Amino acid sequence: MYKLFIRPLLFLINPENVHHITFGFLRFACAIPGIKALLQFIFDVKDPRLEKKLFGLAFPNRVGLAAGFDKNARCLDELACFGFGFIEIGTITPQAQTGNEKPRLFRLSADEALINRMGFNNDGALAVADRLKRRKSSVLVGGNIGRNKITDNDKAAGDYAYCMEVLYPWVDYFVVNVSSPNTPGLRELQEKEPLRKLLSDLKALSDAKEKPKPLLLKISPDLSKEQLDDALQILKDTKMDGIIVSNTTTSRDRLKTASATMEECGAGGLSGKPLAKRSNEMILYIRRAMGPLFPIIGVGGIMSAQDALDKIAAGADLIQVYTGFVYEGPGFVKRINRAITSKL
Ligand code: FNR
Repeated sequence: MYKLFIRPLLFLINPENVHHITFGFLRFACAIPGIKALLQFIFDVKDPRLEKKLFGLAFPNRVGLAAGFDKNARCLDELACFGFGFIEIGTITPQAQTGNEKPRLFRLSADEALINRMGFNNDGALAVADRLKRRKSSVLVGGNIGRNKITDNDKAAGDYAYCMEVLYPWVDYFVVNVSSPNTPGLRELQEKEPLRKLLSDLKALSDAKEKPKPLLLKISPDLSKEQLDDALQILKDTKMDGIIVSNTTTSRDRLKTASATMEECGAGGLSGKPLAKRSNEMILYIRRAMGPLFPIIGVGGIMSAQDALDKIAAGADLIQVYTGFVYEGPGFVKRINRAITSKL
């Protein structure tokens, strides 16, 4: 139904506008008594076999919504009705920022992919914390944090620490995002020494709290083997709680979309189907390197239930979707959860 009737209409409209229209519609519809319960009835798969305990949290199922979809926690209660086991908000920066100039989000339908150069457009940590205070749903929430565009890398730790402090009471785990390609210089924080300093500072901050919260690192799929090995060593040394693999890629290899169209889109991070192979290879490698107990959240190119199973088989404890949810529609999480139960 979604792919046959709704998607063709939505795909006629600019993708960022579709996003806002969908959010507006969802909030409007879900304000009608009974609609949220109805959505949950349709899309939620409740099965104890889907449950997963990871870094001290009890996830009702393994399928999460990836960062960037509900950056500002505007639609948490509504999105929670679509069967997600957890939702990651952000990336959030200390101060609100508008992000890059529009257009900044593009569909590559032939490749089942998206290109974005949003540039951490968000309402800022205080506004988002305020919204989180008022949420009704009990869905587990991850807080993905970053630095403002105008903050230099040598002061970046302060930005991450500020976001952590402000969001601390309102999220269940934190993600340190140093892997977005759309904030100039951000990915340099993945280099050995800056990364070690950043993660040890943030880990110390979390450990000093009465109730420390799980702290994860989200990495880029474009890391070299040497950079990845360094990052894994630092994760071990700083006793971080897990890793998210991966963010979007700047690679444009083996795409079906015409090169003229690609040039029109310009710079940005590629997500969706072309990312799956690289993300799965990294997960396999990390699982072997870090052992069976190290928490891995796998994300990148899950466009079908089989892709989700492949990610879990590669070694992911939990998975997240973004582009697949856009292309496959509201029943996607249910299909994945059903496929997981059928394999148990
Ligand atoms: C993203 N992603 C992202 N990641 C992140 O850590 N912080 C962010 O703010 C964003 N923003 C964002 C915006 C848009 C429009 C897209 C498409 C993606 C990356 C996302 O969380 C995920 O890692 C990748 O999209 C790969 O997963 P999929 O899309 O292939 O399932």
